Amino acid sequence: MPLPAVLQGRSSIPVVGAPMFIVSTPDLVIAQCNAGVVGSFPSLNARPVSLLDEWLAQISEATGAFAKANPGARVAPYACNQIIHKSNSRLAQDLPLCIKHKVPIVITSVGNPSEIVKEVHAYGGVVFHDTTNIRHTEKAIEAGVDGVILVCAGAGGHAGTMSPFALVPQVRKFWKGTLLVGGAISDGAAVRAVQVLGADLAYVGSRFIATREANAVPEYKQMLIDSGAKDITYTPAFSGVPANYLTKSILGAGLDPSNLTPKGHIDMDLGTRPDENEKKIKAWKDIWSAGHGVGSIDDVPSVAELVERMKREYRAVVESDRAMAAE
Ligand SMILES: Cc1cc2nc3c(=O)[nH]c(=O)nc-3n(C[C@H](O)[C@H](O)[C@H](O)COP(=O)(O)O)c2cc1C
Repeated sequence: MPLPAVLQGRSSIPVVGAPMFIVSTPDLVIAQCNAGVVGSFPSLNARPVSLLDEWLAQISEATGAFAKANPGARVAPYACNQIIHKSNSRLAQDLPLCIKHKVPIVITSVGNPSEIVKEVHAYGGVVFHDTTNIRHTEKAIEAGVDGVILVCAGAGGHAGTMSPFALVPQVRKFWKGTLLVGGAISDGAAVRAVQVLGADLAYVGSRFIATREANAVPEYKQMLIDSGAKDITYTPAFSGVPANYLTKSILGAGLDPSNLTPKGHIDMDLGTRPDENEKKIKAWKDIWSAGHGVGSIDDVPSVAELVERMKREYRAVVESDRAMAAE
C-alpha cells in the first residue's frame, strides 16, 4: 500500500506521532522526527500566531541540521494539524504560515478539507484527514486527501467508537491510498498489528505524553502510569464532541465523572466551564485527555528510548511471523 513520496524511506518504524493539544510542542516534534517517527502538533498550540511562524522555522531547521549531521539516520518529515471546524478562528491565519513554510504534511480534523487540499497540493505538500467513520472517510476521499486517519475506539482526544477490526477492512474495500489507524496503540506489536489489518501507519498519541519531551506537567505523566483502561471517561461534556479523559483528573478538578453537564455546542478551543464553585476549569489543561492504551504505560522515557523500544517490539513480531510462515 502506497506511502506518499515524502515519507518513503524516511521512517524508522511506521508511526506518526499524533498531534495533541497543549502537549505537542517543538521539543516533542523534533525528538519524534529525529527518531524516525513523523512528529506533529496542532497549530493552535503556538500562541500567539507569530509563534507558529517561529515554531515552523525551528522544527525545519532542527530536523534538517540533525539529518545533515547524521547522514545514515532516517529523519522523518513533520506535520502540522489544522482543526477546520468553524469554531477555530485561527485557520485563516495559520494556513498561510503552513504554505509559507511548505509544511510537508498537513493533518486536518473536524470539517471538509477540500480547500486546504488545493492549497497544500499547490506547494507539493500532502494532506491526511482524520475521521471516525465510513461517511466522513468517503467525504475526505472526495475532497482529494492523500491519507485517511481512522481514529478508532479507545483513542485519546476525540475518539471514535468503532473497532479497527471492523473499520480498517471496510475502508480498504474502497480506499487504496495511505491509511493510518489510531486508538490505544502503545507498543511495537500494536504498530505491526495495524499493518496486518491492512493499514500503512500507526497513529500514536497518548503513549507520547509519557515521554520526557512532552509538554505535560509531571502529575499528568504520573497519572498515565497510575491509570488503566478502566480509569478513562468518554464524554462530550468538555468540548461538545465525545472524547476520552483521565477520570482521576475529572475528580481532581472537583467534578463528578458520572454527572457531567453537557457542553451543548462544539468548542475546539480551550473549553472553559464553571464548576459549582464558579471556579474556571479548562478542558485539556485541567482535565487531562488519554485513551485506553494508558494501561500499557509504565514509565516516562525519552522519545528516542521509546522509539527504540517500539522498534525492538515491532521487529520481534515480524521475526516471529516469518518463523511461523516457515513452519
Ligand atoms: C491530550 C490529547 C490532545 C489531543 N489533541 C488533538 C488535537 O488538537 N487535534 C487532533 O486532531 N487530535 C488531537 N488528539 C487526538 C490524537 O491526535 C490521536 O487521534 C489520538 O491520541 C490517538 O489515540 P491514542 O491517544 O490512544 O494513541 C489529542 C489526543 C490527546 C490524548
